Parts: sequence; C-alpha cells; structure tokens
Amino acid sequence: SRPEIFKLDGKEIRTDSCWNLSNSVLTLLERQLLNEPSNPLNLLKQRIVNHVHQTYRKPGGRSPLFTVCEREPRVVTTFENFDSLLTPADHISRRPSDTYYVNQDYCLRAHTTAHEHRLIREGLDAFLTVGDVYRRDEIDKTHYPCFHQLEGVRLYAADQLFGTAGINQHPILEKTPTERKPHKQEKIAEDASNALQIQLKAFLEDLCDAIFGVCEKRWVDAYFPFTHPSFELEIEYQGKWLEVLGCGVLEQKLMEMAGVPDKVGWAFGLGLERLAMVLYTIPDIRLFWTKDSGFLSQFEGKSPTDSIVYKPISAHPQVTFDVSFFLPESVQFNDMTSDVYDTIRNVGGELVEQVKLMDEFTNKKSGKRSQMYRIVYRSNEKSLTKQEVNAVHKAIEQELVEKFSAVIR
Ligand code: PHE
Repeated sequence: SRPEIFKLDGKEIRTDSCWNLSNSVLTLLERQLLNEPSNPLNLLKQRIVNHVHQTYRKPGGRSPLFTVCEREPRVVTTFENFDSLLTPADHISRRPSDTYYVNQDYCLRAHTTAHEHRLIREGLDAFLTVGDVYRRDEIDKTHYPCFHQLEGVRLYAADQLFGTAGINQHPILEKTPTERKPHKQEKIAEDASNALQIQLKAFLEDLCDAIFGVCEKRWVDAYFPFTHPSFELEIEYQGKWLEVLGCGVLEQKLMEMAGVPDKVGWAFGLGLERLAMVLYTIPDIRLFWTKDSGFLSQFEGKSPTDSIVYKPISAHPQVTFDVSFFLPESVQFNDMTSDVYDTIRNVGGELVEQVKLMDEFTNKKSGKRSQMYRIVYRSNEKSLTKQEVNAVHKAIEQELVEKFSAVIR
C-alpha cells in the first residue's frame, strides 16, 4: 500500500498513482550494505577509492584529486535520472516496469550517473560517486533489483588536457561543429576526443590492474545517451566474458546544460557486485544480501588489501552450540585461543563451519579464568539433527578437558 508521503535520505516526497515501490524494495533501501564495514562490496569500494586517492593528486600532491560523494540522496528527479543525461523521452529505461517511481517526477536512482548534472553544476571537476541503485529487474545469479555502482567523472579545461603551451595548437572545441563520427562528437576537437579516450582507458585499465593484478580484459563499443564515443569493459571470469563497466566521453550538450560549456570530460560507471564476484569468487549476486554468518564471517575483520577467496557455504541449516569452561591458573589466555580453535576443528572436522571466542573473564574473587566459544556446525551433505551435533559437541568438550584440563561449565 502506498504511503501519502515517502521519506528517504532527508527528502519528503508526496506520492501519486505512479508509485510502484514494492515492500521488498523498501526493505532493501533500509539495509545499506556499504555501511557494513566487512561487507565485500565495502572492501572493494575502499580498495578502489584508496587506489584512486594514491594515484591521482591535486597539483602539488598534497591532497587527492577526486572528491568522493557517497551520501547523495537515493531518490532523484526524473530530470536527474534521465533528461539531464539526454535519455530520449520514449527510452525503455523510463518504463514503470524498469524504474521505481515515487511519483511522476521522482524515482529511485537507477544509476549513480543521476548525480552528474548537479555535481558538475556545483563545480566539481573530478569526483567518484558511490552508492546503491535500483532497477526493476528479473532476479537471477547476476541480477538483483538493488546493486551498487561506483561512478567516476573527470573534466578538463583546455590547459588541463594539453598544457598551457598547447592550448593554441590544440583547442579542445571545434570552431565550427563537424559532423558526428564514430570516434568524436560534433563540437569536440579530434585531438581532444582522442586524448580523452586515451586518458579514460588508461585510468580504467590501471584501476583493473590495481584491483585484480592480472586479468583478461577487452574493450567493446557501446552506446549511452550521455557519452560518445562509448565503451564497455569486459573481464574474463570462469571462462565467460562479464561486462563490468560502461564509460565514454561526456556529451558536450551535458556540459552546456550543467553550465561548463568550455570543459570536456569523461565518465565511467562500474558495478561493484560484478567486480566483487570476480575478485572474491562469489558465485551468486544474491549472496551479498545474505545474513548467513557462513558468508559474512569470511569477510569479517578483513582489510581492503587482503586477498580473499570465498568458499561456498552449504545450503543446509546451521546448528549453533556454545562451550564455556574454566581454565587452570597455569594456562595463558592468548597462547591458548588458537590451540582451542585447532582442537575444535580437529575433532569437529568438516561439520565445524565457524568458531569464535565470544567472551573471556577472570573471576575477581576466585581468580578463575573462563572462556566461551561459539561453534557453528553445518554439513555439506545433509541437515544435521541436534542429536548428531550434540554427539560431536560432547566429543569436543571431552578433548578440551583432556588437553587443557578445562572444567566445562
Ligand atoms: N550509467 C551507466 C549504467 O548504469 C554506466 C555509465 C556511466 C556509462 C558513466 C558511461 C558513463 O549502465
């Protein structure tokens, strides 16, 4: 049922009969995966942002060149999402079967490109926009109604593209517009269009190398209403070519509309899920949304530079048991924890999916020390019964008693 007023990210918008947000998309809006510190999408985002900050600096080198915009409101006007990007009035992406509408004039952003017009108008020359975007879509292994994009835009005044000395030999705009050609727009000079494409592709190939080390990539010609020429970059993953980003030279019309007719620029938008799937070998896009600790624990406490190979979790349910015990006074806590982990894994074998030290304390009066571990059991073959797990758990307790003289509580 449609609310009278829709509130999101500080905006309050009166809905109308165009409203087509489902309950499930409202739930997705609340989750905000990029705010979860160990989410693989967040780790990848940080890896990209760190690379860009280290590689591209303002003149003098003191501060990063690119401004990161990650708090843009996720509800935008249809002007921002479509018209400012020269999307034709009858384009399929505008259909209510493709876009989530709050009312006739407002929708959930379908791409981070929706923020370009305003951010350029506000004076930014180099920025990254990151966030969750929403498209009504079939759900399968690689499609989900919400996914995450990282956008990059870089604008150049004449002297920034060819140097102060070069401006006279190389004006960036044509004196009189030519016809549109496969490799250039009407108003952008040939040399400028070529220079932009070289810079854009170098930026993205370098970014790919920084993320993946080596990986097979290829450029494919593409079409976007707001760039020309346009390209897609594909990456080889498990024997298939996977499209991971779109990019191109920004349409000069867009610059004029945003109030910077004398600059030229490029933009790209990449899908974080697609890249994270390749980088961490995550087989299914739906996994990013799981709350199963078998997934989350594989990324917990990791840093953006860590290499992580995701191990598929079983479809069978988890069974969680805790074990707490007192320790003899002679045993040092720190030495012991990894020995306890090993012991639990040795006895539990394949059935132990996760082990975590949850609590430790020393009783002030008795001086006795205590630890509590949480063990998550799960089988790849079948759903475990409590009885089966209990037998294994008892065997683990027994081993802890023998090895560490632990006193089970
Ligand atoms: N917004 C495009 C998409 O979502 C990607 C893109 C961004 C393409 C910037 C070109 C330039 O598919």
